[in-house]
Amino acid sequence: MNKSYGNSILIRSLSKQSNSSNNENENDDSLLLKEIAKQIRFTGPLTVNDYMRLALTHPKYGFYMRQDVFGEKGHFITSPEISQIFGELIAIWIMYQWQKYSNGRQLDIIELGPGRGTLSTDIARSMEQFTQTRPSLNDCHLHLIEISPFLQSIQQQNLCNHIPNNNDNDNLNEMKSTKRTKYGQSIHWYPSIDQFRSINEHNENRFPIFIANEFFDAFPIHKFIKNSQQQKWNELLIDHDERGNQLRWIQSRNDTPMTKLLSLNGHFDRIDSPKINHFEYSPMIFITIDKIIDYIERQQQPQNDCISGCILICDYGFDSDHQIDRDTFRAYYQHKQLDPLLKPGMADLTADVDFAAIRHYVSERNVKKKNVNIKCFGAIEQRQFLSQMGIGFRLKQLLQQQQQSFSHQDNNNTATTVQRQKELISSARILMDEMEMGIRFKFMAIFINGQQMDGDDDEKPVGFWSMDKSNE
Ligand SMILES: C[S@@+](CC[C@H](N)C(=O)[O-])C[C@H]1O[C@@H](n2cnc3c(N)ncnc32)[C@H](O)[C@@H]1O
Repeated sequence: MNKSYGNSILIRSLSKQSNSSNNENENDDSLLLKEIAKQIRFTGPLTVNDYMRLALTHPKYGFYMRQDVFGEKGHFITSPEISQIFGELIAIWIMYQWQKYSNGRQLDIIELGPGRGTLSTDIARSMEQFTQTRPSLNDCHLHLIEISPFLQSIQQQNLCNHIPNNNDNDNLNEMKSTKRTKYGQSIHWYPSIDQFRSINEHNENRFPIFIANEFFDAFPIHKFIKNSQQQKWNELLIDHDERGNQLRWIQSRNDTPMTKLLSLNGHFDRIDSPKINHFEYSPMIFITIDKIIDYIERQQQPQNDCISGCILICDYGFDSDHQIDRDTFRAYYQHKQLDPLLKPGMADLTADVDFAAIRHYVSERNVKKKNVNIKCFGAIEQRQFLSQMGIGFRLKQLLQQQQQSFSHQDNNNTATTVQRQKELISSARILMDEMEMGIRFKFMAIFINGQQMDGDDDEKPVGFWSMDKSNE
């Protein structure tokens, strides 16, 4: 989300602002706060998990449910919104896995939380352009899992080139029944992973690739703090003040369901170190990854040494137990960070993804299911992934294309060309620079039935090779 770097130039969004209205209304500011205060009066203080879920996805007042939150006029900006190159390189990654491992199965691309649909649009466009190697358009299906009906309609406008008039049900129905992107792939929407699974569980001969870009950092977390006097972990909760018009932090005095669970399942033991006094935990991430793995496992082919499918996770996060003791729960409002309790429903809420915990989870799952076939690669830094996927080459190509069109233009367009070239360079810099997204933004890939992949570079997926190999 380019979340902590408010001064960066918002490159792509300048030319791609949504034509939908940003219908945020300052008078709505306190509506969700009132709902939350009412809920606290009836049920007692909320976990951060419940607070985040309400603030982001409350059906009426949730942050994602009623406004276009992306880009310069919104609250944050994501990699695909910064540069088209991001989505083009992800498309190449998908094509590579599909060609290498699918054994001719049809390709299902499932994007989780697609925002404005910019990444899926770039992927769909790029796949159409790979004329030599692409799957036939009839063999490629795009599935978007999006909780927000408001964002679903923006995705439809962007991907299907069809602007529905909200009052025009015929148009909307026609568009939904057409179910094709403007580049030719079939396209389907689902409000949840559960609905996706139930509709597609009987699909046969498919190779699913799940893409989650900045999806898991919007997932709710629980927060815990160590009470050193009592030598125990307490959960941090959210209460309201005496008058019910401001929220504030409190510590649970007694065990909560989550503290009980984490002491029973050994999680507190795993992080027990005198240096760790605070941590965050997102059960929803593991539940979702488990559902995806379970779905992909069911796609297994009769010749069972085949890879069944994979997941690519791209997100802000950390990949070491040493970094666990950090407060990463943040709010962003109009590109500035603010107190996460101040504007529920109006500001974005986010927490860094604990990639080490995902890896632990996958290896525990392998042990429990007596299955060693799920392989995790990464997390690696965005700058490493993108440079291996060819960001330098693609940037050069785009600059040359601009140069060529420049030679055919009159003087009036010269300034536009130069401006466009500057934007291309600047946006690539934001993705790669260690002070911007280059290091903090990470990539992890999970392959299901990956027994033919060992840890050697030859078997690691492209993008995850070690740097010396990619420099060869
Ligand atoms: C931070 S945005 C990421 C947008 C997009 N991937 C991008 O990179 O531009 C999070 C997206 O996930 C969606 N989302 C959040 N929680 C969700 C859930 N539980 N189920 C499905 N979609 C969800 C939001 O509506 C939004 O589209």
